Amino acid sequence: MLKAVILIGGPEKGTRFRPLSLDIPKPLFPVGGLPLIQHHIEACASTPGLKEILLIGFYSVAQIQPFVNDMQHQYNVTIKYLQEFVALGTAGGLFHFRDQIRSGSPDAFFVMNGDVCADFPLVDLYNFHKSLPSSCNSKALVTIMGTEATRQQSLNYGCMVTNKESHEVTHYVEKPNSYVSTLINCGIYIFSLDVFQTIGEIFTMKQEEYYKIGNGNKEAGNLQLEQDILASLAGTGRMFAMQTSNWWSQLKTAGSAIYANRHYLQLYKTKHPERLAISEGAGEHCSILPDVHIDSTASVHPTAVLGPNVSIGPGVTVGSGVRIRESIILSEATIDEHSLILHSIIGRGSRVGRWARVEGTPSDPDPNKPFAKMENPPLFNKDGRLNPSITILGCSVSVPSETILLNTIVLPNKELSRSIKNEIIL
Ligand code: GDD
Ligand code: GTP
Repeated sequence: MLKAVILIGGPEKGTRFRPLSLDIPKPLFPVGGLPLIQHHIEACASTPGLKEILLIGFYSVAQIQPFVNDMQHQYNVTIKYLQEFVALGTAGGLFHFRDQIRSGSPDAFFVMNGDVCADFPLVDLYNFHKSLPSSCNSKALVTIMGTEATRQQSLNYGCMVTNKESHEVTHYVEKPNSYVSTLINCGIYIFSLDVFQTIGEIFTMKQEEYYKIGNGNKEAGNLQLEQDILASLAGTGRMFAMQTSNWWSQLKTAGSAIYANRHYLQLYKTKHPERLAISEGAGEHCSILPDVHIDSTASVHPTAVLGPNVSIGPGVTVGSGVRIRESIILSEATIDEHSLILHSIIGRGSRVGRWARVEGTPSDPDPNKPFAKMENPPLFNKDGRLNPSITILGCSVSVPSETILLNTIVLPNKELSRSIKNEIIL
């Protein structure tokens, strides 16, 4: 039997994702028409032998439980939400809830960062982990899913040096200051249960240190999987990496949601074609330039043109002559006649008036650099100017007719009255 843990963080995390994470926890933000972590759950549910998924985070139960109940109805696995009383770090929660993870003696358990998107090769990861040779006194404790990054971008991730033949991780540095390796940690792991002994030993050591010298502003039980555990396991012969060339990306900024949306829609072509809208020619259906997802409760006028890379949420209304490309329209939003939406995210319940133009600047990985990942630039550049980004309307924003919004971020509940370029509307 197998289990999976999804680390979902809490309200203080995902700050770069504001204002989209102001009214919905980032792990539940819809990408490809599904809450971000539903893609993780789906990958787990289709892994043979995987019986239980534990979501660990510090959001309130009220924020997460309705989603868990919904998932429980859709997938044939047990799904539970375990709430940390404070942020315990990426390994603190695993250790705190170790009895829940160990119960039923799973053969191994996956750990997945909730803020990554990928074509998750979970079965391959498990088979790889199982096939690792074990000597008489040491067995593989963890296999990390790794992928190639550019030299420069690798510094933003956990970097691993491996033995090319044995795949053992001989050196691990979390977000190094200078170049270590282009093989990066994808935040997807498989662990053997024995790892809790190692985590326990490190936990006790850190506790002693904490009561002697403190741990900055962190809580006593705070433990970082990367710095505290993986860095110590490197070179012990008990940690391995499986390199994948499948699509993988982090979801840190709103711009990366549009990039992730495109890839999840692409994956639907082979895995869930029923989730993609098809163009049925002239008549009562709108024109579709693949790939597009339209929720069954949305209403789209037959003269609208959607795609490529568009997701339309539940209860959305799209008027006549509207053009939407490379964008996500969240539930209950309305796009009035003849408006254009490009490289933008339109928040829940927002309204864009007639003949308006809402446009952002795409922030895709550099297509000319092999293995390039999304850049996650800060909101402002060094001169204090707004970095051009996709346009984002928070929830319940209203954009008047015949206006232009360019590279603009609008916080929730605003009623705009003019055209806006390169501004944040607070
Ligand atoms: N439950 C819980 N408690 N989850 C947490 C906590 C916590 O205290 N802190 C972070 N998380 C969750 C986040 O929600 C996220 O899903 C995941 O753990 C990783 O969070 P970060 O701390 O933001 O790390 P990172 O994304 O910058 O880097 C990690 O992921 C990279 C790949 O995306 C590291 O594992 C890197 O090595 C890795 O390359
Ligand atoms: P392509 O690169 O071929 O898409 O042409 P383009 O350079 O005109 O594209 P642009 O990025 O400006 O616009 C994307 C699509 O939206 C195009 O198919 C345009 O026909 C359409 N479009 C552009 N401006 C408007 C507008 O103000 N209203 C509406 N309804 N559609 C528009």
